[in-house]
Amino acid sequence: MNRPFFYDITLRDGNQALKKPWQLSDKKVIFEKLLDLKVQAVEVGFPASSEMDFEACRELSLMAPDNLVVSGLARCVEHDIISAVNAIKDAKIPRIHLFLTLSPFHMQYVLNKEPIQVAKAATDAVKFAYEQIKKVNKRGEVQFSVEHFGDCADNIDFVIDTLKDVVKSGATTINLPNTVERTHPGAFVEMIKKVKDSLCDDIIISVHNHNDLGMATATTVESFFAGAVQLECALNGLGERAGNTNFYEVAVALHNSGVDVPVDLSKIYETALIVAQMSKVPIPEKAPLIGPDALAHRSGIHQDGALKTKDMEKGAYRPIHPSLIGRKDDEKIGFTSQSGKTAIFEIISKAGYPITIQEAIRLQPIIKEAAEKVGELPTAQIIDIYFNETFNVKGDFKFKHFSHIDKGTFEYEFRYKDKEYKLKGTGNGPLDACVDALKQLGLNVKLLHYEQSALDEEIKGAGATAMSVIHLEDSKGREVIGRARHESTAVANVRAIFNALNIISKENDV
Ligand code: KIV
Ligand code: ZN
Repeated sequence: MNRPFFYDITLRDGNQALKKPWQLSDKKVIFEKLLDLKVQAVEVGFPASSEMDFEACRELSLMAPDNLVVSGLARCVEHDIISAVNAIKDAKIPRIHLFLTLSPFHMQYVLNKEPIQVAKAATDAVKFAYEQIKKVNKRGEVQFSVEHFGDCADNIDFVIDTLKDVVKSGATTINLPNTVERTHPGAFVEMIKKVKDSLCDDIIISVHNHNDLGMATATTVESFFAGAVQLECALNGLGERAGNTNFYEVAVALHNSGVDVPVDLSKIYETALIVAQMSKVPIPEKAPLIGPDALAHRSGIHQDGALKTKDMEKGAYRPIHPSLIGRKDDEKIGFTSQSGKTAIFEIISKAGYPITIQEAIRLQPIIKEAAEKVGELPTAQIIDIYFNETFNVKGDFKFKHFSHIDKGTFEYEFRYKDKEYKLKGTGNGPLDACVDALKQLGLNVKLLHYEQSALDEEIKGAGATAMSVIHLEDSKGREVIGRARHESTAVANVRAIFNALNIISKENDV
């Protein structure tokens, strides 16, 4: 299979569509980025369009490395061709890119010319451009574009005949644009095949697809598999109207299809951010691969799959591992009313707080209710709920104080269902004794085990030095986790019991 040849048009088609086209210094930054991406060709501008663009094309041609094709656009008129030749002749491989429409509609209503006149203008221009560029640079080339090729289904034989003449006149690359995306990918690909089969094998077939209906990536990728080797794409999909074919999407789609893609994919993300900044065209939230939200999962099922495959090259709900394009942010787990326990577990653990899946299941309806009102909950709000519902659980019990009476005897002061209690219990320390004291209320809970866990910095910052985690079994045999923090381990233990009792009492009777 052929290797794709990436011909970047950001500095020409992309630039011409900007509200404020780039100056030389801006173009240089983008050009450097294209070199980092290791593209094979760069269309640096349209030299006849302005003095500024002419200068930019000249400068960038001088900066071009040995193996880079540098092209300048020109209409099929002498003035444009001479301007393009002068602007890019010092590039190592300069290419004059001529274009003319061969679409019946455009020839009639825009050019107001007969097809035969248009075909002659094309071949004459190619011949002239070929002679001019070869005079000043032996490695010079000519590319011819059939503007509005997508609209040429009805006169495809005329287009092919014209292209045969264009090739005889010196063009070695034939570019076939879907200039306004009127032709759907399948039909366009059939037209590409027809032209390819009609021209000699050494002629390079190129595609240039605009994205008016959002199918440009599909058209370009499928055209490659139909024999178009040169793919004209733009960074961030910049370009006239809805833009050109997005470079990143095509490169990654081909990579994912097992094609040896000769660009440095790891430079994609940083490039995209710079291009967005410099073009003042923000990256849409949902832009494939590079959108701020393109790595977010919000439904419980997707979050579960995403987290289970987080570190794998292939992910349950993503086309690539983000690192392939140099993206360092993880897949984002956002909590909405559609999300589940896995998201709660992930968000709280990632924020550095201890939580088990069992606790996440308990918190899910509470956090979900908040999300139903707000939409996606900020992490801080989830953490707030977690703290209130874990370390300060409100319910039938309100622990006040405990004191050591004597040896293994302790006294506990607390409120239960609006009544004040002062109960003594005995045991192996305040935790055991507390469970013992609670028996006098007829509470049938069992202490399964407890642990002191290391505190992270943030909890320490809140003034606590100990965190206790206790596991109680309720009267129905279910295990409940209670947590509490305090400077004193003993107090943290007892508070953890009361937090657990409130959790149990909320769900059913203790
Ligand atoms: O969209 C188009 O047809 C073009 C040509 C100049 C190649 O940009
Ligand atoms: Zn275009």
